[in-house]
Amino acid sequence: MVRLSLPCSFLKILGKGKEMRTWNKDMPTAVKIVEVGPRDGLQNEPVNLPTEVKIDFINKLSETGLRAIEVTSFVSPKWIPQMADNTKVYTGILKKDNISYPVLVPNVVGLESALKAGVKEIAVFASASESFSRKNTNCSAQEGIDRIKKIVDVAKKHNLKIRGYISCVVGCPYDGFIKPLAVTKAVNALLELGCYEISLGDTIGVGTKKTIYNMIQDILNTTEPKNLAIHCHDTYGQALTNICTALELGVSVIDSSVSGLGGCPYAKGATGNVATEDLVYMLHGLEVNTGVDLKKLIAVGNFISTAINRPTASKVNAALYSRYFS
Ligand code: HMG
Ligand code: MG
Repeated sequence: MVRLSLPCSFLKILGKGKEMRTWNKDMPTAVKIVEVGPRDGLQNEPVNLPTEVKIDFINKLSETGLRAIEVTSFVSPKWIPQMADNTKVYTGILKKDNISYPVLVPNVVGLESALKAGVKEIAVFASASESFSRKNTNCSAQEGIDRIKKIVDVAKKHNLKIRGYISCVVGCPYDGFIKPLAVTKAVNALLELGCYEISLGDTIGVGTKKTIYNMIQDILNTTEPKNLAIHCHDTYGQALTNICTALELGVSVIDSSVSGLGGCPYAKGATGNVATEDLVYMLHGLEVNTGVDLKKLIAVGNFISTAINRPTASKVNAALYSRYFS
């Protein structure tokens, strides 16, 4: 058996050789990772994490080479108590010029609070499934789009950048299988409203290579891949495969949560997002540039796992932490 003494030598072997680009030629050469750990990752945590810990967490993420970090949400504190300290978190973090710090906003009430806090970028969210929309935002899918229009009208006046999410793009915990056409319609609606990018959320992680492929192909009939991002929860362990499928179709923005944190309280049984450490390891192995320092990321993953008192859900973190830091 070959024993590899250092993780970096292993990484070199994985990333070796330009010849890889021959079988890898459909992959983009670089991707942007949108770290959603502080928002999607923490929103499901039952015990409120101190605000200073959240701020420290985000500041540490800012040192890893990530270019986008979704830091909190301005949703109703009755619905998501963990995000009630949104203003303190947003105003408390150190903001770097080359990093965007979007926040999730569900309605104009939330937008107004976000504006007071000084946000520059927001993310709005709609659902491809009727029942999830009602459970998550207390309105129908169409009412959700109408609400987003009101948000966008105000946000544009303040020159905010607006990212969009569509949830349940392949499956819904209440409605089951979701037809690609429902997703395509929602994507087009959000793009027409002025979102610069739509993140396709496999909220409960039920997607497989086939369903993800079919869904994105349908969207690509009317939309360019540069307007898309992929957001995979890893409930069924399919996230990396599904992300590869999206990459092969030209998508080059990927959402993830360090340490695999997360889930949506209104999507029963859903676990966290794909772990950012696992994603970065895979991408570097594919010779896809991320700009992210894996070692620093692993340290941050360990920091937040310790803070919430839970073992990491990242396989790469579990494998490499002691090699890097003991
Ligand atoms: P509602 O109860 O229907 O709201 O909730 P309402 O408009 O009837 O207002 C009721 C009260 O809430 C009022 O106060 C409002 O002012 C207040 P009162 O008069 O009773 O004192 N209120 C607010 N307070 C603070 N901030 C606000 C806000 N809005 C109203 N923004 C609402 C409707 C949309 C607000 C609620 O359903 C909500 O906040 N939902 C968000 C749930 C959530 O955050 N889910 C997780 C994020 S989505 C996700 O994780 C999926 C994603 O990751 C992609 C994927 O994985 O698929 C993005
Ligand atoms: Mg999510």
